[in-house]
Amino acid sequence: MHPKTIINNIFFVLTLFIGSTLWAEEPIKPIPLHVEYDRAKAKLGKVLFLDPGISSDGTVSCHSCHDFDHGGADPRPVSIGVHGKKGNVNAPTVFNSYFNFRQFWNGRAKDLKDQANGPIHNPVEMDMVPKEIEKYLASNGYYTQAFKEVYKRPPSYEDMLDAIAEFEKALYTPNCKFDRYLRREKGVKLTKQEAEGYRLFKMLGCVTCHNGINIGGNSFQKFGLIIPYKWKEGVPDRYDITHDPKDKNVYKVPTLRNIELTAPYFHDGSAATLRESLQKMAYHNLGFELSKAEIRAIEAFLKTLTGEKPAILKEGD
Ligand code: HEC
Ligand code: HEC
Repeated sequence: MHPKTIINNIFFVLTLFIGSTLWAEEPIKPIPLHVEYDRAKAKLGKVLFLDPGISSDGTVSCHSCHDFDHGGADPRPVSIGVHGKKGNVNAPTVFNSYFNFRQFWNGRAKDLKDQANGPIHNPVEMDMVPKEIEKYLASNGYYTQAFKEVYKRPPSYEDMLDAIAEFEKALYTPNCKFDRYLRREKGVKLTKQEAEGYRLFKMLGCVTCHNGINIGGNSFQKFGLIIPYKWKEGVPDRYDITHDPKDKNVYKVPTLRNIELTAPYFHDGSAATLRESLQKMAYHNLGFELSKAEIRAIEAFLKTLTGEKPAILKEGD
């Protein structure tokens, strides 16, 4: 064989090999087993997250709408803030939100620190001004001591946001069955139904929008791509930011991790159960109806995405 042909052949085989490993690569990535965070800051952030004292009427904490026993989300279709004021949108989970490319349904906050600034000022959430919060923190013996230890200065609004964001970094849920399967851990096998659900999830195209480490949280997509979904003035979609009509009902794709714990579903909390959300998703975004068996299989797959409760929540104070 001519040397050039040999080289060409080697190249050809090499391309095939690289290609096939790329194709074999899974579209979903496991959550790292350890995420680095500053323990002292996160511990202070945890106390702040649970404290209704940072809201204007002293009744609403971050936890009021992001319940740790509810996968870090709100079991109510729309959140209720200070003075019983109703919001217009379902609170997404704070678990694993650190892995999202932006925060909020329309991505208006670039990171967690930027995000935490939002609910505090929001008149239907905590309705508080930084000065009032600083006064409250400075009047509290625990906080003056803790901020001095952690930040080496008196409590400030900026440092408070920093501590809360550090705590949220610690809210990751590793080791779900599916991650352990992806890591090829010994003895971890998907059941036939779970494996069928995953196959459908890829084959039907769910994975084009729900992929990566958070199985979502990394792009903006339309709800109602094929069959339009009703649009309501004032929803926090991309249109709210860009005012471009094609951005109506475009949202950050929500994470599907711990999805069995975070009902109701969608930005408006309109699907009460996971099955209902799957029916609506397939109908509006893929343009067809799923069979009962398909729904059951996808649901079984989605339930393998429930991870361990964040370690920081198991630690006592
Ligand atoms: C009154 C209910 C309420 C309170 C109190 C509240 N949130 Fe939220 N939170 C929401 C709602 C509703 C959204 C979605 C709003 C949107 O996207 O427009 C949200 C979104 C978020 C997100 C974005 C998650 C994502 O995937 O985009 C994070 C993170 C978050 N909240 C953290 C916090 C923190 C920290 C606090 C306390 C400082 C807090 N929340 C207080 C209701 C609340
Ligand atoms: C074109 C992109 C796209 C495709 C394809 C897609 N989704 Fe979604 N998915 C979204 C968006 C955007 C939302 C948020 C919609 C909203 O809240 O209004 C969402 C929401 C969801 C939710 C609710 C999450 C929550 O926390 O409220 C589930 C469950 C879901 N999708 C599962 C699926 C499944 C299963 C498939 C395949 C049958 C699928 N999705 C296909 C973009 C997509």
